[in-house]
Amino acid sequence: MNVSRVEMTDLLPIEELKTLVEPGKVLTDAASLETYGKDWTKHYAPAPSAIVFPKTVEQVQAIVRWANAHKIALVPSGGRTGLSAAAVAANGEVVVSFDYMNQILDFNESNRTVVCQPGVVTGALQQFAEDKGLYYPVDFASAGSSQIGGNIGTNAGGIKVIRYGLTRNWVAGLKVVTGTGELLELNKDLIKNATGYDLRQLFIGAEGTLGFVVEATMRLDRAPRNLTAMVLGTPDLESIMPVLHAFHGKLDLTAFEFFSDKCLDKILGRGDIPAPFESRTPFYALLEFEAVNEDVANTALATFEHCVEQGWVLDGVMSQSEQQLKNLWKLREYISETISHWTPYKNDISVTVSQVPAFLADIDTIVSGSYPDFEVLWYGHIGDGNLHLNILKPDALSKEEFFAKCATVNKWVFETVEKYNGSISAEHGVGMTKRDYLEYSRSPAEIAYMKAVKTVFDPNGIMNPGKIFA
Ligand code: MLT
Ligand code: ZN
Repeated sequence: MNVSRVEMTDLLPIEELKTLVEPGKVLTDAASLETYGKDWTKHYAPAPSAIVFPKTVEQVQAIVRWANAHKIALVPSGGRTGLSAAAVAANGEVVVSFDYMNQILDFNESNRTVVCQPGVVTGALQQFAEDKGLYYPVDFASAGSSQIGGNIGTNAGGIKVIRYGLTRNWVAGLKVVTGTGELLELNKDLIKNATGYDLRQLFIGAEGTLGFVVEATMRLDRAPRNLTAMVLGTPDLESIMPVLHAFHGKLDLTAFEFFSDKCLDKILGRGDIPAPFESRTPFYALLEFEAVNEDVANTALATFEHCVEQGWVLDGVMSQSEQQLKNLWKLREYISETISHWTPYKNDISVTVSQVPAFLADIDTIVSGSYPDFEVLWYGHIGDGNLHLNILKPDALSKEEFFAKCATVNKWVFETVEKYNGSISAEHGVGMTKRDYLEYSRSPAEIAYMKAVKTVFDPNGIMNPGKIFA
């Protein structure tokens, strides 16, 4: 079916929309359309028709029913920190912002669960958990702005996946409004529930294409004890693999990240983050663990010494205070923000951990063979096989020339991902940026089933159309 844009000459549907929410909660001014019509993806011009801010579940249901009646497409909007254009309204859609559904509704100490509205900021949930002496472990650089609804929509990953898994692992129950406006309560916060299909999981990572999350019960964990980080300089990428293996065997790691020396160069260029140590090496691993007692810290040091003896590590440092821990994390967490200044080509892919060195070498060879002037930066969550490939625009190229060449790079990357049986999107989602490449990771049969599922929950195709599928 054809989902049309709201005709700006026909104000009736918009006037009707205004009656469904509180006064002033439908915006159509140019600045709001520009702000709420996009996420952190920089390649699409925002062009929504209106922004609506519901405050209750009933209002979300009314908006969805209104959209069905008028055949108007809806785009859900959270913290707008996404990197796959899943929250971009580029085609006259109405954006549904969850900014005013931002309350923590309940906390259950025995269940260790928190009931959140979708607009609760990830960092606020983390802080709430900390105040209760507990821990919400899904963490990433944009946690200060991103919202729980968006985390669920993209099944957000981040820096602690090696120990705690993805957002999916922390969702105890969901309330969703489907594409027909129906309210579903999924899993009812149970740990054990063997009653057939777990529909909750379908809505996690669906990028709002099946329905909108209107309430989520999130699990919390015990607070980690004395988190301690090490940054280790390695002579090459291959050496990070035995380092990971050595530390994994000895410590219960909470993170294992990596970045190249080119990334460190950009970080140190800011002037506000100290170098981890004096020497420079081609790659760095950042690992974290709970130093619960002196034995654990000594084990970490002994493992470090073993890695040095083997030639896998050339230099290293271990945090001795919370401030040092924070400073070491800045080396990794600030990379994305720091290089955004260069409007880089970005990609987010995954392969199995053991394949990482070969995969990365293949891409390096292909890219440098054809575009020797490209500055290629690698960083990411190497402990779970998730690599972030970023390429900075050479000064000599215009943005248009650069991104035209990057379209070719995209194809090479996805062909290589397919060769390694990996994923074209590890944690950023498909959105609009990768919808045309889905078949590199998913079979035609899988895609057909995914489309069939969408039709079940969203028969009129109004829920975030054009995302995941073209
Ligand atoms: C990260 O790991 O830093 C984020 O996923 C953002 C990015 O890839 O740039
Ligand atoms: Zn990441």
